[in-house]
Amino acid sequence: MVLYLNCCIREESRTDFMARKLLAGLGDYEEVYLPDEELSVLDLESMMKRNDLLEEGKLDDHMFDRARQFAQADEIVIAAPFWDLSFPALLKLYIENIYVTGIVSEYGPDGRPRGLCRASKLYYVTTAGGPYDGRFSFDYIKTLAQSYFGIGEVRLIMAEMLDVEGFDADEIIKTQLGKYGLGD
Ligand SMILES: Cc1cc2nc3c(=O)[nH]c(=O)nc-3n(C[C@H](O)[C@H](O)[C@H](O)COP(=O)(O)O)c2cc1C
Repeated sequence: MVLYLNCCIREESRTDFMARKLLAGLGDYEEVYLPDEELSVLDLESMMKRNDLLEEGKLDDHMFDRARQFAQADEIVIAAPFWDLSFPALLKLYIENIYVTGIVSEYGPDGRPRGLCRASKLYYVTTAGGPYDGRFSFDYIKTLAQSYFGIGEVRLIMAEMLDVEGFDADEIIKTQLGKYGLGD
């Protein structure tokens, strides 16, 4: 099963448009539209509940549904626009919710993480109004996926300069899709 994590807020989202071109070639997928998910901040109360459940080994608790869904996906596609040198906070909130030790990752006796996710591939799709700098979005997601979740292959699908006057956004997106082999 392909898991599509859609973190695109705008109705006319170009990031979602590009992601769907990719998804069209990946077969059936399950979409999680993050703006509609009731994702909660990990406050003291929920952190304590989480710790208790983990200590009791209750990994099948409802609280960890999203983590299990993430860990069991065969491929993952994340679509998130470039916001403030990173991505929308909503995606960080999702990560905070699914990062459950014992489900997506575990730690060895040496303290190092070992990934428990089934997925072999993760695609990160993003678009930027100006020049794209991936240090705090793609690079972060890639490190997390490879070093902590055990997802070997992480790919970037990106279009930039879409809001700069004099640049043709539609043409840039078309060119980029062609570059990634996702053209019509
Ligand atoms: C809250 C917000 C923050 C943004 N921050 C940046 C930024 O730091 N750098 C940049 O190049 N573009 C920035 N943009 C522009 C978006 O990256 C650009 O419009 C993108 O294509 C939006 O994707 P969408 O069409 O999928 O919504 C920002 C837009 C918004 C709404």
